[in-house]
Amino acid sequence: MSNLPQLRTLNNGVEIPELGLGLWQTPESKSANIVYEALKIGYRHFDSAQWYNNEKGVAKGIKRWLKEDPKNNKRKDVFFTSKIKDPDHGYEKTKQTIKNSLEQIKGISYIDLMLIHSPQSNKALRLGTWKALQEAVDEGVIKSIGVSNFAVPHIQEILKWDEMTIKPVINQVEINPWLTRKEIVNFCHKNGIEVEAYSPLTRGKKLNDPILVKIAKKYGKEPAQILIKWSIQKGFIVLPKTTHEERLLANIDVFDFTISDEDIAQMTHDDEYQVFCSWDPTTYRG
Ligand SMILES: NC(=O)c1ccc[n+]([C@@H]2O[C@H](COP(=O)([O-])OP(=O)(O)OC[C@H]3O[C@@H](n4cnc5c(N)ncnc54)[C@H](OP(=O)(O)O)[C@@H]3O)[C@@H](O)[C@H]2O)c1
Repeated sequence: MSNLPQLRTLNNGVEIPELGLGLWQTPESKSANIVYEALKIGYRHFDSAQWYNNEKGVAKGIKRWLKEDPKNNKRKDVFFTSKIKDPDHGYEKTKQTIKNSLEQIKGISYIDLMLIHSPQSNKALRLGTWKALQEAVDEGVIKSIGVSNFAVPHIQEILKWDEMTIKPVINQVEINPWLTRKEIVNFCHKNGIEVEAYSPLTRGKKLNDPILVKIAKKYGKEPAQILIKWSIQKGFIVLPKTTHEERLLANIDVFDFTISDEDIAQMTHDDEYQVFCSWDPTTYRG
């Protein structure tokens, strides 16, 4: 493998690897091992969540790697993300749920990024959650905070709030060549908010698309690798998930080629809105 993921700088100066391992539906029993194997081949960014029930396993995999070679394997080089689940929105509940997450990841000391997993509550509860997250950053137990599945009005709510002391650094949303979400992406980028592309492999559902397969053949790559590279070339931080070691290697081996502008245009379907995930909370209004 030639290169590893580059670092992007968030609007608070913190660096984040442009490719991270997705961990939704990775069982707790498998997560420690897959994270440890991923670290050995160059992954440094892990996308967990309270809903995934694997924060503890992910932290266990990171701790194993740190212990193995303390001179070279440093906590500061690993980026761990979790997400606040919707029933825990609101100031008090979020304070408590952050404590629970910190308890789960004991031994890796802090959470690099905590996102509000979805906007599915109401304005008062979302802002209460944001307040608790800001305090956690001030306390040093969380380094950066952001949102997920937020549409423009949800983000504006935080940006316009007079108690906002910390801006979201990231909005994590489902993005792929058939779901490009131009309005959300343009708004985020204009406001210095990085966009993370989740379900970037379309959960496997578009890997046989004829145009994608043709482009993959042209570059001598797999369709999954082309989708990952599409996200990176479009400016997104990308989060492919796998529980298979051979796919771990393939999914990070995407830094020795560039897709031409012409081929990017050919595979991009701005006029479509194909959701492959089981939810789309960006459409939630309330
Ligand atoms: N914030 C949110 O609401 C939200 C929602 C969804 C996802 N996410 C995040 O984004 C991550 C990725 O999204 P996702 O898990 O929905 O789906 P995804 O990454 O689009 O696709 C994962 C599927 O593709 C398969 N796969 C992986 N690498 C492959 C390869 N090289 N060739 C062929 N198939 C391959 C995986 O199978 P195997 O595992 O069997 O290899 C799995 O079935 C999640 O894990 C999570 O961290 C966030």
